[in-house]
Amino acid sequence: MIKIENGYFSLQTIISEYVFCIDNEGLVRHLYWGKIIDCLRDFKFQPLTEISTNDPVYEITPEEYPVYGGLRYKESCLKVTFADGTRDICYKYTGYDIKDSTLIIKLTDIYYNLSIELYYKVYENCDLIERWTVVSNNSADALIIDEIYSAQYHLPYENLRFSNTHGHWGAEQQAFTQNVSYGKICFENRRGISGHNHNPYFILENNATETTGDVFFGVLKFSGNFRGIVEQTQYGETLVQMGLNPYDCKIVLQANEKFTTPSILAGYSNLGFEEMTYIMQLYNQEHVLTQDLRPVLYNSWEAVGFDVTCDKQQQLAKLAQDIGAELFVVDDGWFGNRNGIDNGLGDWYVNETKFPNGLQPLIDTVKNYGMKFGIWVEPEMVNPQAQLYKDHPDWIYRFDNREVTTSREQCVLNMTNKEVQDFVYNMLDDLLSNYDISYIKWDANRPISEPGAKNLGPNEQMLWYLHIEAVYNIVRKLKSKHKDVLFEACASGGGRIDYGILGIFDDFWTSDNTDAYDRLIIQNSYSKLYPIKAMRAWVTDCPNFLTQRTIPLKFRFHSAMMGTLGIGSNLLKMSDEDKELSTIMIAQYKEIRHIIQNGVFYRLTHYSTNDYYIFEYALDKEDLLFVFLPQSKLGHRPVNIKLQGLDDDIYYEFNLNNQLECKSGRYLKLKGIDIHLLGDYQSVIIKFDAK
Ligand code: DGJ
Repeated sequence: MIKIENGYFSLQTIISEYVFCIDNEGLVRHLYWGKIIDCLRDFKFQPLTEISTNDPVYEITPEEYPVYGGLRYKESCLKVTFADGTRDICYKYTGYDIKDSTLIIKLTDIYYNLSIELYYKVYENCDLIERWTVVSNNSADALIIDEIYSAQYHLPYENLRFSNTHGHWGAEQQAFTQNVSYGKICFENRRGISGHNHNPYFILENNATETTGDVFFGVLKFSGNFRGIVEQTQYGETLVQMGLNPYDCKIVLQANEKFTTPSILAGYSNLGFEEMTYIMQLYNQEHVLTQDLRPVLYNSWEAVGFDVTCDKQQQLAKLAQDIGAELFVVDDGWFGNRNGIDNGLGDWYVNETKFPNGLQPLIDTVKNYGMKFGIWVEPEMVNPQAQLYKDHPDWIYRFDNREVTTSREQCVLNMTNKEVQDFVYNMLDDLLSNYDISYIKWDANRPISEPGAKNLGPNEQMLWYLHIEAVYNIVRKLKSKHKDVLFEACASGGGRIDYGILGIFDDFWTSDNTDAYDRLIIQNSYSKLYPIKAMRAWVTDCPNFLTQRTIPLKFRFHSAMMGTLGIGSNLLKMSDEDKELSTIMIAQYKEIRHIIQNGVFYRLTHYSTNDYYIFEYALDKEDLLFVFLPQSKLGHRPVNIKLQGLDDDIYYEFNLNNQLECKSGRYLKLKGIDIHLLGDYQSVIIKFDAK
C-alpha cells in the first residue's frame, strides 16, 4: 500500500513500513524503515542545520538517493559529468506518480536537462519493496554517468552486524558475519561473469537469531559486476548502497537516452533470519518460480568428464532410468573437437566421432526410457583453437596491441556485439528447434579480461553491464519461443547465484563441490535468501573427487535431497547394492519433493550444540525433518528439536526409531522430539503427516 500526505510518503507491507518525505531543503529525506506504524501524520521531519561548517546539512541529511554535488562527501548514488565538464548535480523535486503499486519520485537538475526517477514497487503480501532508478538525459548533449547505484538504505543504528558470503570455486556460499564499525565495508565483484567470492546482497542486524530480532536485507537483481557499501557514519546511522560496480564502468548517455539501474528487493523482518528466508520464499513462489515439480536429473560430468560418446551415454541413460531419473543431461564434450578444455568451444556442431549418427539416437534412447533430454553449453566462450575463433578473431573482448589472456584455455566472446548475440541465439534456437531438448545447462567458466569492445565506441566501459544483459535477453527470447525448456545457471559451479539470473534461468548449479558434508554448509548458507527449488544438488561417487572424503550413500542422498535432486555417479561402476539403495532413495524423494520444492523451509541447526545439521520443510498438512550428524562427538547427547512449521491443534503421525508416534503440533513445537544419531555421517528424514 502506498500512502501520501503533504509531501510524506509511506510504503506499507503487511509487517513493514518505509517512510520518507520531501524536506524544507527539497531533499528526499529518509525517515523510517521497520515494523509497521501506519500513522503517517505522526512523522514530522526536523529542519536540519549544519552541526559545524565541516558537517553541512547535505552531508548529515539521510537522503533516499544522495547525488554527487554540493557540500556532500558521503558515498553518492549518482555522479555524472555533463558535456561542459560540470561534475555536480543539484536536483529539485518535481512531483510523483503511482503506477501498478509503484511510486515514482521525480527529480530534475535545476539547470541541466537531467531527470532522476526513483522507483519504489511495493509487494504488500510478500513484505518486500523493490527499488530502482532511471536517469534520463533530456538535453541535446551527451553526458557521462561516472557512478550509479540502484538505491541507498538508512538504518538508524550503530554497531550492526553485516552478513554476506565469501568463497571460491568448490567452496561457494561460505557465510560470514562481521561487525560494522566506523569506516566502510565494500563487497563486490569485478569479473563480469562469476560470483564465487561474494554475493550481491546485504543482511544487517543487531544480535538477531533465527527466530528473533530485527533484520534488514536486500538482494540485487544483477549478475554482472556489482558493488555494495555498508558504512557506519559519524551521525549515528548505517548506510548501504548497492548496484552496478563503478569499477572500470562509465555509461555515456547520448541526447534523449536513459539508463535504468538493476533493482534491489529489500525487506525487513522482526522475527530473525527465518522470517527473512520466508519473505524471499514467498516472493519466489508468487513471482519467480512455477509450481511444477522439478525432475530428478542424471548428469555424467563427474562420472566420465569429456569421455562423452553416444554408446556410453546410452548405457548411462538405461541405468539412470533404472534407478528413477527423469531427465538425462549430456554435459561438456559432445560438440566440436571437444576432448578436453583446449578446443571446441564455439564449434557447436555434434562431434561425429563421438556421435557418428548425430545426437538423435541418444535422444531417442533417452525418450524411449521415458526421460527428458538436456544438454550442456557454454555459449559466451570460444577456444582459440576452435574454428569459430579462426573465422571471427574479432568476436572476443580484446584491446589492440595487447595479448589476450586465456583462462581454462578459452576467451570470452564479446556479447555486446549484435553479430555475436545473433550467433549465440541462433545456435541455441537451432538446437532447441531441431531436437527435443527440455533442459539447457548454461555454463561460463572464466571471467572477462582485457575488456575492449570497439563496437561500443565511447560506451566501451558499459560492457560490464551490457554483457550480462545480452545473456538475459537471449535466454528471455529463447524461452518465449521454447516455452517449457528449463535453463540451469552454472558458472564453474555456483558462480552465478544471484537474483538477476533467477527468474530468467530456472535452476542454479550450486557448486562443483558435491561432497555431501561440504554441501550441508553451502546449502545452509544458500538457503538464507535463495529458493530451495532452484538449488540443484547431485549425489556423486566416493571418495569425493575434491575432498577425498568417503561418505555413506544414504547420507549423500539425504544431503542432495535437501534441494532439487540430481545424480552424478558413474552408474557403469556402481554396485548392485548401491543401485538398489539409489532406486529406493529416488522413489522416496519423488514422494516428498512437493514438500521440499514448494514448502516453507526452516533452519533448525541452532538447536544442536553437537554439530547436527537440522532442517525442516512444511507444506499444508505435511512436514519433513532432515537431521544430519557428520561426526559423533565425545559425550554425545541426543538433540532436542522443536519443529516450526506445524499447526498447533493438529495431531501428526510420524515414525521415530521404527516406532509409530502421534503427537500434537503444539507438543512438537514446544516440547519437541529428541533425536539421537550415533556414528559418523548418520542422517535421517522424518515425515510428519496430519491425522
Ligand atoms: C563447470 C561446471 O560447474 C561443471 O558442472 C561442468 O559442467 C564443467 N564446467 C564442464 O566443463
